[in-house]
Amino acid sequence: MEKENTKITIKPNGQIAIQGSVDIVDIEGNEIKHAPRFALCGCSKSSNKPFCDGSHNA
Ligand code: FES
Repeated sequence: MEKENTKITIKPNGQIAIQGSVDIVDIEGNEIKHAPRFALCGCSKSSNKPFCDGSHNA
């Protein structure tokens, strides 16, 4: 079986766009559910961390 490739794109506005299989866990190791394609917040303005909520545009 071929391994799925995961693509991570760093955007200039702070978004970290992720496409592909990845596990995200919190500091206690609990899985954080997410969509198949999503973006993490790299600007620290999101009210829905670790995910981007579009606040980087404000
Ligand atoms: S990157 Fe922080 S809210 Fe979008």
